[in-house]
Amino acid sequence: MQTLIAANWKMFKTGPEAAATVTSLAEKLGGACPAGRDVLVFAPFTALEAVARAMNALSGAMVGAQNLYPAEEGAFTGEISARMISACGATWVLTGHSERRHILGESNAFVGQKTGFALRHGLRVTLCVGETLDEREAGKLKDVLTEQLREGLADLPEGFSPDALAVAYEPVWAIGTGKTALSEDIADAHGLVRGLLKDFLGSQAQNIRVLYGGSVKPDNAAAILALDNVDGVLVGGASLQAENFIRIVTA
Ligand code: 13P
Repeated sequence: MQTLIAANWKMFKTGPEAAATVTSLAEKLGGACPAGRDVLVFAPFTALEAVARAMNALSGAMVGAQNLYPAEEGAFTGEISARMISACGATWVLTGHSERRHILGESNAFVGQKTGFALRHGLRVTLCVGETLDEREAGKLKDVLTEQLREGLADLPEGFSPDALAVAYEPVWAIGTGKTALSEDIADAHGLVRGLLKDFLGSQAQNIRVLYGGSVKPDNAAAILALDNVDGVLVGGASLQAENFIRIVTA
């Protein structure tokens, strides 16, 4: 299984700015992703096409959208379909990011609908899960992950390829705060996620990449990537500048 190093650029960068960052990444990496590593950038919708074009200079790199609406097309003002995303050259989409759950009010059930819809429409999905600080302190980590995964995975298409799905464990309290979870917390939560994937999906669980996200930085990435059941990282702030992101890509 290739290690997946994913960037989430959230609501940062115009198309030209995003393309310039990818061009700089491509130059510094000598035109190819390092052996054993997949590089993926979740760019804003308005930058998808520009990023996909710039990625022609970085062989093996992929681009994804940060959201989609689970319908073919229709009267859904402000929303974006799977077909529109694919037509921009993107092959992945994020579902269930905590900022969409907590700021935009997305439910577990809606996240599950989006995840299934995206997979049925030829996109690969990174499904994000993770607990708030209150939930952790109340001892609810396992319950929260169980419900987020049960509902998040409830609508998967028959015979989907495990390679088309990744799960990102992102503790909400570690996102954008500079507070990385302790190694033992990450290893524990990833063990729980792997176990739940086995419960829900059986033997396919082994081939689904489980990523860690939440204040991943150049100086902690190698240690996090070395933990059991960590198959990659999902990086926010530290992925915005090519110099920082490359240090994580090559960590
Ligand atoms: P930070 O790396 O900025 O904490 O963001 C993590 C994240 O939300 C990635 O999806």
